[in-house]
Amino acid sequence: MKPHVLVSRRVFPEIVARLREHFEVETNDADEVWPRAELIRRLQGKAGVFVTSSEPMDADLLAACPDLKAVCSMAVGYNNIDVAACTKRGVLASNAPGVLTETTADLGFALMMAAARRVSESERFLRRGEWTRWAVDMFAGSDVHGATLGILGMGRIGQAIARRGALGFSMPVVYHNRSRLDPAVEAELGARYVSKDVLLRESDHIVIVVPYSPSSHHLIGAAELSMMKPTATLTNIARGGLVDDAALAEALRDKRIGAAGLDVFEGEPTVHPGLLEASNIVLTPHIGSASLPTRRAMANLAVDNLIATLGSGASRRVPPTALNPEVLGRLSAS
Ligand code: DGY
Repeated sequence: MKPHVLVSRRVFPEIVARLREHFEVETNDADEVWPRAELIRRLQGKAGVFVTSSEPMDADLLAACPDLKAVCSMAVGYNNIDVAACTKRGVLASNAPGVLTETTADLGFALMMAAARRVSESERFLRRGEWTRWAVDMFAGSDVHGATLGILGMGRIGQAIARRGALGFSMPVVYHNRSRLDPAVEAELGARYVSKDVLLRESDHIVIVVPYSPSSHHLIGAAELSMMKPTATLTNIARGGLVDDAALAEALRDKRIGAAGLDVFEGEPTVHPGLLEASNIVLTPHIGSASLPTRRAMANLAVDNLIATLGSGASRRVPPTALNPEVLGRLSAS
């Protein structure tokens, strides 16, 4: 008997086909966002679940789904998964780091450049038919090349952004992170470790790539925004809730900072009305990792983790990107 797994959102057909080689699979072809009770109902009798970044996998849900042994996400961010609760219940949890690094860094850089050079704002102006003549300061923004790039959070994606800035655009890079990088990596990136306050004061363009947790909630609020240069840009490609969206909307409205580029929002897919009204902003709907090859690689990595955890015979092995590999001993004994 093959174990049963649930795929919580629509995924690529080849991903489902791969899963069917090992499991009895229930899919969500309509791509409905199942309400919690519905998700719990569908998880009864399932040994594994393939999730994205939006389905909360918390202690109460785990308690209501006693057959669950593996929660495998195709996202790198896993603030929707209570890893400690998974570990307590002997459930293997995994995310999908590495495969989306460069693609997400590309979007971060694109948003930063678009914010600095007022790309969306000027396109909206053109589409409204308001472009009737040239003016010396028309949509004059700020330079990216040679400007100081400040990176909050210097994990894989932060480093990929630093590399683009330092090597491609001659940007001096400053960063702030929980821990300092190895000096050899700092030297390769030309990156200087600074306090958060120094980063806020010195940077021309700030990119946030910090994982969300209660301790990083509103990492950027009114106080931090007031420390930024009035011409600086702020880009968030990490998670909603890291920035106080209401405070950012006010700072943009009052032109206390130059511009913002946002891919993630508090309470998304709802977006704060003040951000929608702001002119000096570039908004994208959480598409940081959205290139087709990358989305396929992310989904395949979640499948690798499910097969490694729940597959039979030789296919069972240490899951490549487990968040709590310590539960494996308990799983193989069960
Ligand atoms: C991730 O993988 O965490 C991206 O933000 C997509 O959710």
